[in-house]
Amino acid sequence: MANYDILIVGGGVIGLSLARELDRLGQRRIAVVERGRIGREASLAAAGMLAPNGENEEIDDFFRFCDASRKMYPEFADALLTETGVDIELDRTGALFAAFTEEDSEHLTVRFSRQTAAGISVEDLSQTETLKAEPSLSRSVRSSLFFPDDWQVENQKLLTALESYALNNGISLIENAEVVSLITNGNVAQGANTALGPIHAEVTVLAAGAWTSLIKIGETCVPVSVKPIRGQILSFAPQERYFRHLIYSRRGYLVPRADGRILIGATEEDVGFDRSSTPEAERQLTNAALEFSPTLAGLPIAAACVGFRPFGEGGQPVIGEVPGFEHLYAAAGHFRNGILLTPITAQMLAQSILQGSGGPLWEQFAGVVSPPAEKNTAA
Ligand code: FAD
Ligand code: GLY
Repeated sequence: MANYDILIVGGGVIGLSLARELDRLGQRRIAVVERGRIGREASLAAAGMLAPNGENEEIDDFFRFCDASRKMYPEFADALLTETGVDIELDRTGALFAAFTEEDSEHLTVRFSRQTAAGISVEDLSQTETLKAEPSLSRSVRSSLFFPDDWQVENQKLLTALESYALNNGISLIENAEVVSLITNGNVAQGANTALGPIHAEVTVLAAGAWTSLIKIGETCVPVSVKPIRGQILSFAPQERYFRHLIYSRRGYLVPRADGRILIGATEEDVGFDRSSTPEAERQLTNAALEFSPTLAGLPIAAACVGFRPFGEGGQPVIGEVPGFEHLYAAAGHFRNGILLTPITAQMLAQSILQGSGGPLWEQFAGVVSPPAEKNTAA
């Protein structure tokens, strides 16, 4: 097969956005090699929330990392629209974190004081104000926090945009070509052995999501520690548009899409790569939906999706050069925030590959990403 300067293993949002960023910086001869079809795994199953506040209880460096990536989205969305004509539907309506029980209310009180102390935009809404913002919420809602800076995108459109960018700009997308092992010469990575044959490259990047740890170098797995955490998510397709905001509770979340669909997510299950949709998850998510709103009762489930979040050790993404090897990098382990962290990951890793480490993003955030590790926790 052809030789490339950069070979990216994995065609999810992380691999595709890195390919785009490298191309924008002038790199040519880039290929993305994908086991199945481009963009069919976690990146498709995701809810598309860009929600540093909803997803993080603490206001720590990881929160700031997430928030820095969120702030990149308006420019990212505009650029993708110009480059590809695809609107990724960045929606900045904001999120409500709703309380339905006394414990929920106590939890929100703690969050509110933590967030206001950190200078984060948040409003404490009474029951009346919450129902005014979202009249279809259950009357048993007690109060909510409003986060104007938690947004969403349509992740299916994001995948379409990134794939279009690649197709329009000469980035090779090689589908149905599972990477079994890497080609190495001593400790220098030189591409990958795939189901379609060897692909040689100057630089190889591991961006295979939850499967990254399973790729081999010789007889052992690559030293990148990522494991799958299954997420099941339901969608409903009501005739009317009931909600405008992302809505979180401590038991789930609701994402209203522009096309009228409502997503209810999601389970977190440490069950390896089992793709089953389970009745327990359906019950859990249906209960969360009914707590949000009795108007959802009786609506048929339009789809039940399953995805494998890539869990990096300590919940941190693994971004950077793989220690002990040359010309080998990883970008994996984005767990619950891979859509949100797409632009910052692409920028940081492209910078490392093309200019070596350093640069303002690395100076700020090196502490919150794990370097690829020796220990491998593959399921
Ligand atoms: P993937 O999208 O899984 O892509 C990896 C690709 O690598 C796959 O296409 C796979 O086929 C390919 N691959 C694997 N092994 C090989 C191999 N050996 N050779 C070649 N190719 C290979 N994040 C958010 O930010 N916001 C959300 O609202 C959100 N909601 C979520 C809801 C659910 C239910 C789930 C499951 C996840 C959610 N996430 C969310 C997390 C997000 O989906 C992931 O963090 C992100 O998609 C990871 O992207 P990725 O490109 O690393 O992985
Ligand atoms: N970020 C939402 C999820 O992972 O379910």
